[in-house]
Formats: sequence, structure tokens, C-alpha cells
Amino acid sequence: MSLIPKETVDQILAQADITEVVGDFVSLKKKGQNMWACCPFHHEKSPSFSVSPAKGIYKCFGCGKAGNSVQFIMDVEGTSFPEALKYLAKKYGIDIPEETADPEYAKEQNERDSLFIVSDFANNHYQQNLHQHEQGGIGQSYLKQRSLGSNTIRKFELGYSLDAWSDLTDTALKAGFQQKYLEATGLTIAKEDGKKYDRFRGRVMFPIHNISGRVVGFGARTLKTNDKKSPKYLNSPESEIYHKSNVLYGLFQAKQAIRMQDMCYMVEGYLDVLSLHQGGIENVVASSGTSLTEGQIKLISRYTQNITVLYDGDAAGIKASLRGIDLILESGLNVSVVTFPEGEDPDSYIHKVGDTAFKAFIEQNAQDFISFKTSLYAEEAKGNPVKKAEAIKEIVASIAKIPDSIKRTVFFRSCSLIFDIDEQALISEYNKIQLQDRRQQPKTGSPSFDASFEQYDAPFPTLEPEPEQEESDVDVLKRYEREIVRMLLNYPDQILEEGMTTCQYMLEQLEDVEFKTPLYARLLVLVKDKLCTGVIPTAEDFINFPDQDIRTEATNLLSDPHELSHNWETHHIFVPTEKDLLPYGAERAVLRLKWRNVGLMVKTEMEKLRLVTDPQEQMRQLQFIRNLTTLYSQLGDMLGIVVNR
Ligand code: CTP
Ligand code: MN
Repeated sequence: MSLIPKETVDQILAQADITEVVGDFVSLKKKGQNMWACCPFHHEKSPSFSVSPAKGIYKCFGCGKAGNSVQFIMDVEGTSFPEALKYLAKKYGIDIPEETADPEYAKEQNERDSLFIVSDFANNHYQQNLHQHEQGGIGQSYLKQRSLGSNTIRKFELGYSLDAWSDLTDTALKAGFQQKYLEATGLTIAKEDGKKYDRFRGRVMFPIHNISGRVVGFGARTLKTNDKKSPKYLNSPESEIYHKSNVLYGLFQAKQAIRMQDMCYMVEGYLDVLSLHQGGIENVVASSGTSLTEGQIKLISRYTQNITVLYDGDAAGIKASLRGIDLILESGLNVSVVTFPEGEDPDSYIHKVGDTAFKAFIEQNAQDFISFKTSLYAEEAKGNPVKKAEAIKEIVASIAKIPDSIKRTVFFRSCSLIFDIDEQALISEYNKIQLQDRRQQPKTGSPSFDASFEQYDAPFPTLEPEPEQEESDVDVLKRYEREIVRMLLNYPDQILEEGMTTCQYMLEQLEDVEFKTPLYARLLVLVKDKLCTGVIPTAEDFINFPDQDIRTEATNLLSDPHELSHNWETHHIFVPTEKDLLPYGAERAVLRLKWRNVGLMVKTEMEKLRLVTDPQEQMRQLQFIRNLTTLYSQLGDMLGIVVNR
């Protein structure tokens, strides 16, 4: 790779059409001047992702991602700037001339590029072997025996390495590749006496792609099922282009599906990925038998906040990998687990029961990680006080990783019930951990409920200045309820979607929501009553209302400024009015209130749980709270809320 000359960059920027570039990933619909779609970067039900063809930019009003064509490719593909430019150059048939500016940099880039090219060559060679060479039949029949069809084989570019000492090395050298690159990728092993041979021989080859689809390494499975001497799998060593901690097998093929399903299934093996993919579960990646790294979790979190780990059915293996999951918790992602019957892995199980039953099995058996871990340890610690103490420590350590305090509280309670131990003991254990952590990294602040959500709330400014100290629950609710009434009275008859007015939409959405602020509760009833008589109410209707409070508030609501925040304009991005974005704003206003209400319900129900003494009743109440917590998470997800510590 070399530096891309400025003229070429300009040419790429000029030619890349934002609607074409974005249109390859989401389906855009024209509305007014702009095109709209559901955002590819976060989960949502109604479109808040917009593209302005005139300005050549995209902007999501939900998650805030914005930029031009190049930025879009960087965001969606997770690539660097030069890689995004290359992608666009390829799409528009623009040649990138070689230019060596900084010789050191160019050399390094050339080295890397050479490794990519030689890996690509090997990948093609292995595939040719599988499909065309006479020995390829051995590989083919193995794959057939593993029930893999030709579509899956092609999609994952599976290949075969001949059972010969140096087939690949010889072919590559003859084709003009330098030995040093063959060695650097680990494809060729050179002995001190100068003899060279292929690392992979007589194996089915699984190329490993990076996130932009380039081959960076291989996994290779032996076909000799009974040979104890040679390992079942051989893998490429780390290299300049292959950093194992930053690659997940199958992510390149899965990333679109992960984003669309808003879920990533995590399995252990290559074959698990292939079989699930073939069975229609495409949002699946493999950790390749090692424990997860922070880098791998970051990769996944570009596409979803939800991970379900599918475990092989042996308890020892499960316990070994529990640690890795704490890392996922820490990153704020939601983790569930599914275990399979003893002796089965996802690959064997999907072939045993079929695609449909397999999907149903995962759905029915997914369990949130903390509950899973708690019951796992509780089972083991029965009647053994020493083990019990260790178990509790383990679990509290996991709970401590969860950034959201509401979720933490619920898990403490459930853990205390399962282990029959005082909740306070758990919390003091937690405090110990907190104290240690804080000593280690002095920067972390105190946990708080929803410290950071407002910043995600562009483009609708909150009317009051941001509260300096923590707002009380009552005040927050008041603010959210006021916002809803404000929208109702300012845009009562505006059509949002499918012929539905703001009034109809909001009242329908709020059917089961009770306003807690008396003034807004009254206003809401007044709006409802008016609507029942067939009149769409406006603030003017209430400006002359007999009741002074209603009069004053209606006047305030009608005269409130609702320009977009300044911060917004400085993005140099087209600034739509609140009215343009009302479908989005109305949905968010409702969601926000619901989210906060459910959060408060969790708190209330937790208090009630304290008064319950009957164990069966406790479990029932706990299940109810867990369901509420799930709902709370879902609403938070829909709002794109990220909870900070
Ligand atoms: N693995 C490895 N080296 C080994 C064994 C395993 O790298 N010697 C990795 C591979 O990525 C493998 C994963 O760990 O896919 C899971 O291992 P295992 O469960 O033993 O293999 P399976 O994937 O089930 O493979 P198969 O079904 O072909 O036996
Ligand atoms: Mn297997």
C-alpha cells in the first residue's frame, strides 16, 4: 500500500455519490429534500438516518453518526481512511497510482501489502486444489461428510492443502513471490539448512478474513481423525497482518446480519460458524477456541450491543471461559448464554435437530449471563461454606462489571436470594471491589443512573438548561411529561406517519402510561377529552381556560422556543426544523418517558421484594423484576442510551 495522491483523493471524493454509497448498505426512501432509512449503526424502528444528496453527507439523528462517503465506509466497514478510499476507488473504477512519499512508511505499507497479496494467492491456490486438483476430492468428501454445501464452501472460500511437502511454496516461488513473505505469513517454514516446506499439508483450509474481507491467515483441519500425533487444527502464526486478538472468524461474512438482527452469536469453532450460517443463522462468529479479547469485543460492538454465547455442552470448558465474559459485561454489552446438551456443540446439534428446532432451542434456552453463572456456582457450592464464599466473590466480581446501576441492583437481589445470603453482604463485597478498582484507576467516577443519556438526545434541545446537580426522579418525569404535552399542543394535527396525527400517535402510545405530574396529567386528560368530541385541540384552546394554572402553562408551552441547539448548527450540516423531524421526536419523547417510568418501576418493585418472605413468592417477584429490567434495557437500546459509570 502506498500513499494516495491528493488528486486521486479529490477525484474519489468528487465521484463518490453519497446515495449510491450508502444505498449499498441500507434502502433509502426519499422524503422532502433528503433520503431516509433506519440507521445502520443502531437499532431503531423508525428512520432517523438521513442522507443529503445535495451536500454529500449522511447524519443519524438517533446516534449522531455523520459524515461524507468516505466516513460512511469507515464507519460501516470499520476500516481506516486509506482503506475506505480504496473501497470507493474500486467501486468507481478509479486507479490509485503508486506514489512513495515517506520511504519508511511506504516500505512498511509495501511489506504489509505483500503479505496480503501472498495470503490471497495462497487462498486461491487452496481453493483451486479443492475444486480442481485430483487430491481435492479428499477434501470435498470430508466437507460433504460434515454436511457442508457448495454455497457455504464458496462463501467462506474453503480450500485444501495438498498432502505434499512443498506444493504451495514451490508454486508461489515459481509465480514470483518472495520467500520472505511466504515465511512472514507462516505459510512456508524454512529450516536452517535451507530446506523449506509448507506449514499446511493435507488439510481442509479455512481462510480467516479481516473486517474488510482480506485474507490474513488460515485455520487448517486435519482429515486424519485418529492420528493423535498431528493436532486437529493448525493455525497461521501472528504476523504483520494477522493479530489474533483483533480478528474474529466469520465476522466479515456475518457483520451485515449482526447489524440487522441486532445480535451476535458467539461460538467456538470454524465448523460451528459454517453450519449455523448454512442453517440460516448468519449472525455468528467464532472465538476460535481462545478466550475473547477487548479488541474482539470492540469489533462486535460496532454492529450490536447484544451477544449470546453458545457453549459446547461440557461444564469444565464453560467455567474456563467465564472470565472472558466479564470483559463483555464491562464493555456494557448485554450477554446471554445458551448451553447445549452434554457432548453436543452447535455444529453437531443443528445437524441433529434441524434448523427450525435449533433456532427455537436458542430462543428458549438463552439465559442472562449473571443468572446463569449464579446458578452454576450455587449448584456446586451446595453445603460447602468455603466454596460458597468463593462463589459469591466470583459472582459479585461479575456484577461489579455491569455499568448500569439498575441492572446491578437487580442482580444483587437475585444473587442474594439464590444463595440465601444477606444482600448487604454482597453489596459490601461489591464496595470492596469498587474501592480496589478506584485505587487502580483513579479516574472512574461514582456510578450513576443515567448520567450520559441527554447527550444522545439531539436534535431536540431540552427546554431548561441542563441541571447542574442530579435531578430528582420527580423532576425528570416532569421534564419528560412536559415535553410530550408541548409537542401535543404545538403540532397536534401534524401527520406523522401513515395518516396518523401527533395527537393520535401520542395518545395511543401513552394509553398505559400515567403522568405523575398533576398539571400535565390534567392537560393530557383535557387533550383526550377534546379529541373524543372530534376536535383536535391546540394550545389556543387552553389559553383562555378558566383555570389559571392551565392557562399559564399552555401559554408557556406555546411560546417556548424550539430551535435546534447551536451545537447542532456548528456541525455544518443541513439543519432540519423540529417539524421536519417530528415523527422521530415524538417517538423519542414517548420512549424516553416510558424508559424512565420502567426504571422507576424496577426501583419500586425492588422495594416491595424486600418485604416478601415466602421463597416462592420471592422468586415470582424476582422474575417480574427481571422482565421489567429487560424491558428497561430494550427501551434504553432503542434510545441509544449508553450508561456511563
Ligand atoms: N482449535 C485450534 N487448535 C486445536 C483445536 C481447536 O485452533 N488444536 C480451535 C479451532 O478454531 C476450532 C475451535 O478451537 O474450531 C474449537 O475446537 P473444537 O471444539 O475441538 O473443534 P471443532 O470446531 O468442534 O471442530 P470439529 O467439529 O471439526 O472437530
Ligand atoms: Mn465440532
